[in-house]
Amino acid sequence: MTPRVTVPELGRMKREGRRIVCVTAYDYTFARLFEQAGVEILLVGDSLGMVILGHETTLPVTLDQMIHHTTAVVRGAARALVVCDMPFGVCHGPGHVVMDAAVRVLKESGCHAVKLEGGVRMVETIRFLADHHIPVMAHVGLTPQSVHAFGGFKVQGRGESADRVLEDALAVERAGAFAVILEGIPSALAQTISAQLTIPSIGIGAGPACDGQVLVGYDLLGLFDGVRPRFVKRYLEGGQGIVEAVGRFVDEVRSGAFPGPEHGFAA
Ligand code: KIV
Repeated sequence: MTPRVTVPELGRMKREGRRIVCVTAYDYTFARLFEQAGVEILLVGDSLGMVILGHETTLPVTLDQMIHHTTAVVRGAARALVVCDMPFGVCHGPGHVVMDAAVRVLKESGCHAVKLEGGVRMVETIRFLADHHIPVMAHVGLTPQSVHAFGGFKVQGRGESADRVLEDALAVERAGAFAVILEGIPSALAQTISAQLTIPSIGIGAGPACDGQVLVGYDLLGLFDGVRPRFVKRYLEGGQGIVEAVGRFVDEVRSGAFPGPEHGFAA
């Protein structure tokens, strides 16, 4: 059997110039399918608040919900590294409080790492977790949990604020993060950051120079019609396919074509 992707393996991939592929997953079935397709990282993103639970932002998501979904993803992942997003508010307390939450996540779900949003302001927390051997993926740039402070899901790091995003990325590396998501920043800035980091950068809306890419699974499959950022590429019109398939079922039930004789049981 192919061995599990590990944190050190991701570092090796960056050093050897092998691109890392990450997709968000929220349940057992999609985890299995994405893993069969070859992804290295399954991220249980708090985007589940929007694409699964129908909220307008990721802010309402709770730790219990994250653990519930991560547990299902872990059951479907034999090979991928599974990362659980820490939801809004959970990482704002002192290190030991965040540690308790992260320990719950790892113990109850069986996942391999946590992700948290924020750069310089999260350095102490990242260091605390990393010192206690909890692998941390950081997330800087357009951090969705800051949507209200940013005044919307807006590109970050343009003009003078580029230095701030660069400093955030360097700070999380120094604090011990094993990888960093760069979201919604100019491609040239992501290139500069990726060249300066020794840990892998995983981009989303950050151009082609990152060490890997992540997309929300429901976006790349064309299942989610809520927020549709320009950086999303749809590899399937899955939503349309589902409407058509279920529509055929509706028609056949109404016409009596389903169930046919082959779907029934003999006496
Ligand atoms: O919550 C999420 O899905 C994420 C990815 C978009 C990086 O944070």
